[in-house]
Amino acid sequence: MAVARHLLAIDQGTTSSRALVFDSGLGLVASAQREFAQHFPASGWVEHEPEDIWESVLATCREAIAKAGLTAADIAAIGITNQRETTLVWDRTTGRAIHRAIVWQDRRTAPACAALVAAGHESLVASRTGLRIDPYFSATKIAWLLDNVPGARRRAEAGELAFGTVDSFLLWRLTGGTVHATDATNASRSLIFDIHRGIWDEDLLSLFDIPASLLPEVKDCAGLFGETDPALLGAAIPVRGIAGDQQAATIGQACFAPGMVKSTYGTGCFALLNTGEKPVASQHRLLSTVAYQLEGRRTYALEGSIFIAGAAVQWLRDGLGLIKEASETGPLARAADPAQEVYLVPAFVGLGAPHWDAQARGAIFGLTRNSGPREFARAALESVCYQTLDLIEAMHADWGQAAGGAGQGTRSVLRVDGGMAASDWTMQRLADLLDLPVDRPSLRETTALGAAYLAGLDAGLLPEPDRFADLWRLERRFTPGMAESERSRKIAGWRDAVRRTLSTG
Ligand code: G3P
Repeated sequence: MAVARHLLAIDQGTTSSRALVFDSGLGLVASAQREFAQHFPASGWVEHEPEDIWESVLATCREAIAKAGLTAADIAAIGITNQRETTLVWDRTTGRAIHRAIVWQDRRTAPACAALVAAGHESLVASRTGLRIDPYFSATKIAWLLDNVPGARRRAEAGELAFGTVDSFLLWRLTGGTVHATDATNASRSLIFDIHRGIWDEDLLSLFDIPASLLPEVKDCAGLFGETDPALLGAAIPVRGIAGDQQAATIGQACFAPGMVKSTYGTGCFALLNTGEKPVASQHRLLSTVAYQLEGRRTYALEGSIFIAGAAVQWLRDGLGLIKEASETGPLARAADPAQEVYLVPAFVGLGAPHWDAQARGAIFGLTRNSGPREFARAALESVCYQTLDLIEAMHADWGQAAGGAGQGTRSVLRVDGGMAASDWTMQRLADLLDLPVDRPSLRETTALGAAYLAGLDAGLLPEPDRFADLWRLERRFTPGMAESERSRKIAGWRDAVRRTLSTG
């Protein structure tokens, strides 16, 4: 029998599920993608149907393997990467979720978070988890499910229920309900995980009122998590890698050296700066998080999280009906009237880093009688660039202090990936506004690549991180070229627009 040498990456994102087959040289062989429904039951609430997530993952895995002309027996290992923080609780006997998944963007627990902050718990939580008390993370979503689904808390205390982020739910389903585990990167987004000790934190479990019986085992990112039920894909395939999507992209971008930064443009935008073996406590409202854990050793990152990036383009398409395809935005923006200074602050679900304002809602400024689709498109794309600028400046300040003023890395180059990185106009505008070179890799599927790499590393098919980093290839560098006077004027306009949007403003 031929030796299995291909890798299957499952990339379960906020708006779609994807499956990608790589060969053992990490060449992309085939992929499949399915979008699924978003549910918005109330203002600021966002839910996913767990069966949609599962069915889309299973269907795309089958489709990608078939498109590659392979069978499950040819797949050496699976790597899972996922939208992070999104919270599921399911019945351990039936595997059925007790409620729809509460998505990371969901703000329903803003009052609960505000009460915890008012009670003075912010510094304990930040020092243990590297995070802030914000509805973004899983803990208050878990508590909401236990308190709002009839009988859930009692059943959780009786050990009948399981909590997991999407990786954990998929692992449970893929292994036929035999494995309840997650990896350290996903755990680090829960608000109940001590990132220093690498374990669930008892004090935080009692603070958020979450029974320990709900929790998955936390493992390295690369390792044997379990084997798929042969009935699902046609053969038992080992799951050997798991990482949250932003951490997987950090790995896929080979940001293994302290000071290296990547920014991924999906539904939201997430910039991660590798800070090495010690977490850096942000003085500028960024997060400290686990970048990856290999052989029991954690590498940390500073993270800036923006909730709306590609979703702003989706809003132009689905909300306003201004475009049919996302790719129309670049040409529209290019044709926008330079004299009109239109700013969109896409606080549709509040603002993330560095503002952390769960109550803010989107706003647009500077409209004139002549403003039209072109100016809206430019404002949407620029809003993503300005938000990245806010993150990179905060990172530079934090890292400069942590690295004794060296600040190495953050002021040298930014590696980009994700859907919006395909837009030349946006990436050039990003370089201009950041006043920093922006590097786009030749393989833009960095999130899936990171997951495939973890699986291939554990399967013994791929080299250690240092040698993997040598394989990273530049497709295009965007060099800054905007006059400083224009840049400062535009940035001042953005800052004013944000100030007017903040709920405290
Ligand atoms: O923290 C949320 C993030 O993991 C979602 O990523 O790519 O689905 O926008 P994405």
